[in-house]
Amino acid sequence: MQGISRVAVGGATGRVGRHIVDVLNERGYGVVPIARANGVDVITGQGLAEALQGVDCIIDASTGPSAEEQPATEFFTTATRNLQTLGQQAGVQRLVTVSIIGCDRFTGGYGAAKIAHERAVLGGPIPGRVLRAAQFHEFVSQLMAWGTRGDVCYVQEMRTQLVAARTVAEGLVDLAISANGFSVARIPEIGGPREESMVEAAKLLAARRAGGLRIEGVVDTSDPDHAVYTSGALLPAPYATLAGPTFEAWLATQAAD
Ligand SMILES: NC(=O)c1ccc[n+]([C@@H]2O[C@H](COP(=O)([O-])OP(=O)(O)OC[C@H]3O[C@@H](n4cnc5c(N)ncnc54)[C@H](OP(=O)(O)O)[C@@H]3O)[C@@H](O)[C@H]2O)c1
Repeated sequence: MQGISRVAVGGATGRVGRHIVDVLNERGYGVVPIARANGVDVITGQGLAEALQGVDCIIDASTGPSAEEQPATEFFTTATRNLQTLGQQAGVQRLVTVSIIGCDRFTGGYGAAKIAHERAVLGGPIPGRVLRAAQFHEFVSQLMAWGTRGDVCYVQEMRTQLVAARTVAEGLVDLAISANGFSVARIPEIGGPREESMVEAAKLLAARRAGGLRIEGVVDTSDPDHAVYTSGALLPAPYATLAGPTFEAWLATQAAD
């Protein structure tokens, strides 16, 4: 494999994608940002072949609008097929993506879609690499938006090792440029420095905001996978990389929203 100097970033405007762009720029790589906002669509293929010209490696952190199993699976498999096909034609040497720790423990939903995503990336023809990450610090706010009803916010009880999207971006760039072997039997993982409670993280975030939103932890027993969230199945494996600020330390660096 030749050296990597030019990297395309799928989902370049997203929570983790924007940090991947920053890390690559800071390390002196050529960067091709891919997002519909940049006129490139990984689903329709618009602008994609042109964007991948001269690219050595793709780090894909794009994701579609739905977290439902079927549309999310459709998004990831279509996007990956387009990146694999057009990337191979352009001479891309490696495709790297970000998945979720514990996604293999789910029987359905977004976790199942991520497994389909991983398989598509690892299936080639471009050699694929996957980094499984814990929930991002930046995800707490989205989860709260989904669960807010009036002045109450219902948050899934979840044991998680929340990690900064910037830390995940550094891990993805390290994986993308590493010459080391990659074993599908042991997909690398990255998490934050300590286990956190999603409900407590939401309370910390709510306390910074005006409005007096009340946080209530919930367990949806109608979800066949509800135990995955509370059992610790989403926590990193012993071999995982643990890095970056705790949620509280990260929050202290963020502008109030
Ligand atoms: N959020 C978490 O806690 C977490 C944890 C572990 C792993 N992950 C994984 O990390 C990845 C990124 O998640 P995120 O939360 O950073 O995503 P996000 O903030 O929702 O960003 C999604 C990105 O995808 C782009 N995009 C959407 N549709 C596109 C299309 N058709 N063509 C090209 N680009 C498109 C968006 O830009 P445009 O809208 O401009 O196209 C945006 O840049 C996902 O694979 C997710 O499963 C997330």
